[in-house]
Amino acid sequence: MVAAAKIVTILLVLALTAFTVSTIVLAVQKGNLSSQLDEAREKINTLEKITTPVIVDTTPVTTTEAPKPQINYRLPRNVKPTVYDLYIDPDVTTGKFSGYNVISLNIIESTKTITLHSHLLTITKVKVLDGETEIPSTFELEKVREFLIVDANAELAVSENRYKLRVEFNGKMDDKIIGLYSSSYLKPDGSKKTIATSKFEPTFARQSFPCFDEPDMKAIYKVTLVTPIDGGYHALSNMPQSGVKDIGDGLKEVTFVDSVAMSTYLSAFIVSDFDYLEGDVRANGVGEDFKMRVYATPEQKNKMPFALETGVKITEYYINYFQVEYPLPKLDMAAIPDFVSGAMETWGLVTFRETSLLYDDKISSTANRQRVATVIAHEVAHMWFGNLVTMKWWNELWLNEGFASYIEYKGTDCAFPDWQMLDQFAISTLHGVLSLDATLGAHPIVQTVENPDQITEIFDTITYSKGSSIIRMLEDFIGPKIFQKSVTKYLTDNKFGNTETSDFLDAIAAQPEVTIDVREIMRTWTEQMGLPVVKVEKISPTKFKLTQKRFFSNPEDYKGTYDDSVFNYKWSIPITFRTDLSSEVQRYWYMHNDEPLEIELPVAPKWIKFNSDQYGYYRVDYDTEMWDALKNSLITDLNVFTVGDRASILNDAFSLADATTIPYETALDMTKYLKDETEYVTWSVASSKLTSLKTSLMFTDIYKNYISYARNLIDKVYKDVGWNVEGVTEHIKNRKRVNILSAACSLGVEDCLKQASDKFMLWIADKNFDISSDIRELVYYYGMFSTGSEQIWETVLERFVNEPDAQEKNRLMYGLSAVQVPWLLQRYIELAWDERYVRSQDYFSCLQNIAANRVGESLVWHYVRENWVRIVERFTLNERYLGSMIPSITGRFDSQTRLSEMEAFFELYPEAGAGEGARVRAKENVKNNIQWLENNKENIAQWLEKNKA
Ligand code: BES
Ligand code: ZN
Repeated sequence: MVAAAKIVTILLVLALTAFTVSTIVLAVQKGNLSSQLDEAREKINTLEKITTPVIVDTTPVTTTEAPKPQINYRLPRNVKPTVYDLYIDPDVTTGKFSGYNVISLNIIESTKTITLHSHLLTITKVKVLDGETEIPSTFELEKVREFLIVDANAELAVSENRYKLRVEFNGKMDDKIIGLYSSSYLKPDGSKKTIATSKFEPTFARQSFPCFDEPDMKAIYKVTLVTPIDGGYHALSNMPQSGVKDIGDGLKEVTFVDSVAMSTYLSAFIVSDFDYLEGDVRANGVGEDFKMRVYATPEQKNKMPFALETGVKITEYYINYFQVEYPLPKLDMAAIPDFVSGAMETWGLVTFRETSLLYDDKISSTANRQRVATVIAHEVAHMWFGNLVTMKWWNELWLNEGFASYIEYKGTDCAFPDWQMLDQFAISTLHGVLSLDATLGAHPIVQTVENPDQITEIFDTITYSKGSSIIRMLEDFIGPKIFQKSVTKYLTDNKFGNTETSDFLDAIAAQPEVTIDVREIMRTWTEQMGLPVVKVEKISPTKFKLTQKRFFSNPEDYKGTYDDSVFNYKWSIPITFRTDLSSEVQRYWYMHNDEPLEIELPVAPKWIKFNSDQYGYYRVDYDTEMWDALKNSLITDLNVFTVGDRASILNDAFSLADATTIPYETALDMTKYLKDETEYVTWSVASSKLTSLKTSLMFTDIYKNYISYARNLIDKVYKDVGWNVEGVTEHIKNRKRVNILSAACSLGVEDCLKQASDKFMLWIADKNFDISSDIRELVYYYGMFSTGSEQIWETVLERFVNEPDAQEKNRLMYGLSAVQVPWLLQRYIELAWDERYVRSQDYFSCLQNIAANRVGESLVWHYVRENWVRIVERFTLNERYLGSMIPSITGRFDSQTRLSEMEAFFELYPEAGAGEGARVRAKENVKNNIQWLENNKENIAQWLEKNKA
């Protein structure tokens, strides 16, 4: 009944919207806007040179409802670009640019209309050319879909490269960090240097030049950039420079070699005074050798060697691993002072935030070192996965981002084998998404996206982390050799083309060794949101029965209606396990349509641990007796388990306890083995749980008992790691140290806070007081937390403002947010708005840092609501970090009052743009927090009482 009613409602809504939309479209085409249009056309026809744009605003005039979701945002496929002959003159002094684009076209179906993208550009002239002859035409700009629609007054016949579209345009580069934009930095003498640079993914190429801005509209780029002759300026693009011409007025034209066929979002233009360091990439027979360069501001040349060495190593590894040549003659990596993302894989000219590329022995920390290496590994992987072979449309983005997020671990592991990268996958990628995906805020990996907001929104944790996690699972069950062969086949078969998920799976299924139905298996993971929990019951000493169901972190979320998935929320699960009798991994399949799986062993094991090294994307729950066996074996000798298994036991136990699937005492009992644990990865799982429990219990009457238990637990390892940072060869030890020190400070271990404060005070007194870069961040943070007065805060603020290094500046920015004085935090919030203090690229992390401080939390929440309109005005609703800020600020709310505030706020501003899903996640999270306390507090209280130190 209910379902039927739902369907009727949906049909009604669909019918109504279809009616409304067609009315709107008609209105735009013929109705009350038509006179406006005619007038515009007339103007165009009568004027030879159009100097002002004619903008037809198609924002519906007949209704106040936003019709966005029903609009067809896609370009028609009847006209396709083959070559962009692109001329851009970015004026770094005025912050404006102008240019023209001559687009060669293939006409697939004869038409009079050419539709392409253009946004925030002033179009000054449009010409349709048949060979050399101009066909008279008119054009209009459609704001909502960001279309430039050109109407020729003659039919364009089916042809290849016969017609050209020539468009002249200009636009603005200042006040933004997407599209073609200005970035600037201070020279040592205090003067400001401005450069021009670009970032186009996913839909911002159209803000730089009119183009067919969809990933499958690949074309060749012939680029010319204009740059000043003086000031050390030069130009960079995807391809190497092919010529330079002095054009007078202190300017030169730089031309570039023709590109290969590529998507619009991968083009890049930089006019800067950057210096570079160069190295050789050896292809070892897979294509040609080529040069790699690292570019950055000239003052930072000393910070380039690490990126270059790492970049060369990782690129060589990929060429060998993929067995597919790198098709461009060069690969540059540039550090941009203002950069909205971590990095961007623009082909042949990868762009980075400075913090993700530059490494200085004296300033950078071990964590910075790893970040630089992994970001390089991620972006370089895209040269193949994403650039050479591109998803057909953004709904398959996981093919790009999931794959790069997986293979970056292999790339980094190859360059730095002692960093335990493969074990680190669990803590940096898997665990986070396992918990997100267990909420109602989840969505399937492959999801329909149409408009730019939805496209931006899909660059999320599910795409990156679930995508990479299920690829990791896939490699584990088909085996690394076959996986590698499949990847080579996929890349080779589809080079310079576009693909869907099925193409990737086809390449695997085509391997003769693959006998399972990998397509069907993977569909259960890509098309369904969420994840299963496998419950293991011991039905005899040698016999185990496995059942599966969808796992929810909040049991209230389980509603028993699974009809929105063809697989009924059952998954085809690769079951693996080890026992005390054999350290070899045993394997079974538990298919989505199978009955419960029974596994029989020849001999009764003492313990059995499923989901070996947590390669599978699922949780495992056991009988109490089996949990006890695991716990006791851990306590007796933790080394009978791998690091991955230990991390997975802790992670599963706490997640299941949080979800009230197992008693909380089972999870807390597991922590007892930690007295002997020394590994970074496992401690990282433990410390993140210890600190998150602190947060959850902070305002309860059991906090005191909890905190003393937690401090006691961490005390030994805290003393073991000490405060002396070791050299770069002790990477993992260094990472463990900082992880433990941060956790200990966060849990309020007295000695830890004292050490941090002492060092902090010495540094306040003398800026040159030597603090190892690894511990600087926590010294600033907990020093400020413990001792921050107005005067101290001002001192740090001044150091922050004057700090030229981006990594150190980040730490200072973080330190400032720890002060416990409300009015200073309020001042910080307000000053963050000013770009002279905080670059736009850092604005949201700055607010989030402040919100992570208990005193700042409500201040930020208040500020964001009060200032929503101007924040949206500055960053737009399409900004990825604006959306994700909401769940971050509200992440610890755990009351109905807060939830109501959120609901009221969302109601007041119903347009969420790219933050739609983030709002759902934020609300879901607060509901879960409320529920969590109700569900678990009592059990935790009892356990703590029993286990008092
Ligand atoms: N392709 C993305 C850059 C990007 C991110 C474009 C979001 C559009 C929207 C790039 O490869 C990427 O994934 N960058 C990450 C960092 C990376 C190391 C995971 C980022 O910027 O967050
Ligand atoms: Zn990426």
